[in-house]
Amino acid sequence: MKIVLSVGGSLLNPGRPDFDFIEKLALLLRKLQAKHQFAVVCGGGVPAREQVSHIRKLGGSEFLADETAILCTRMNALLLMASLGDDACPSVAESFREATGAVNSGKIVLMGGTIPGITTDTDAALLAEGIGASRIVNLSNVNGIYTADPRKDKSARKMSRMSFSQLVELASQHDQRKAGTRFIFDLIACKLISRSGIETHFVCGKNLDEVQRAIEGKTHSGTVVK
Ligand code: UTP
Repeated sequence: MKIVLSVGGSLLNPGRPDFDFIEKLALLLRKLQAKHQFAVVCGGGVPAREQVSHIRKLGGSEFLADETAILCTRMNALLLMASLGDDACPSVAESFREATGAVNSGKIVLMGGTIPGITTDTDAALLAEGIGASRIVNLSNVNGIYTADPRKDKSARKMSRMSFSQLVELASQHDQRKAGTRFIFDLIACKLISRSGIETHFVCGKNLDEVQRAIEGKTHSGTVVK
C-alpha cells in the first residue's frame, strides 16, 4: 500500500533538529516498510521561518523567501534520510517526477518543497495523487481538526471524522482570516485531496502509536477525512 506521510517541519526541526523524534519516526517507518511503500514530505520548521524573515529583512522577494524555505525543507528531509540509512532513497526528490519515479524502488522516498508559492501540504497532496497513494497521514503538533481554534474558543470540539466538503469549508473560513492563523492543512491541499478522494488522517506526530494506527488504517484519536 502506498502511503504519503506529511511531516510538519516543527516536529522535525523546532529550532534545532529533534533527534529523538527523527530517530523514532525512522524506526517506525523501517518497521512498517515491509508492508507499505512510503513517500515522506518534510516541512521547513523554524529554520524555514527564520530564513524567510532574513530574506525579507534584506529586501528579497517573496519568491526568494520561498526558495530559501524550500532549501530548509530539503535539509530536514536529509536529517530523516540520515536516520533511515539504506532504507531511504539516496537523494531528496526535488520534483514530483523524481518522486513518482522512485516510488517503486522499495526504498522510502523523501521530498521537501518543490516550487515557490505553495506549501508542503500541497506537495503531499499532489504526490499522493501522482503515485496513487491509498492515504495521506499528516503529522503535526495538533492532535486533530477542531471546529474552531481550541485556544480561543472553549466550545471548539475535535472532529473524529469529516467529509471532504466539510474540510474544504473549514479551510476556506480560515483562509479568509489574517496571516498567522493558519489552518492545519492549506486550502489548495484540501481541494486536491477532495477532488481525488484521498483519505487523509490528521494525528499528533509526537504520538507514534497514533501515527502507526493511522498508517495501518486503524482507529485513532485524531481526525479522518474521507
Ligand atoms: P511548510 O509551511 O509546508 O512547512 O513549508 P512547515 O514547517 O511544515 O510549516 P508549519 O509548521 O505548518 O508552519 C515551509 C515554507 O516553505 C515554502 C513556503 O514558504 C512555506 O511556507 N515552500 C514549501 C514553498 O515555497 N514551496 C513548497 O513546495 C513547499
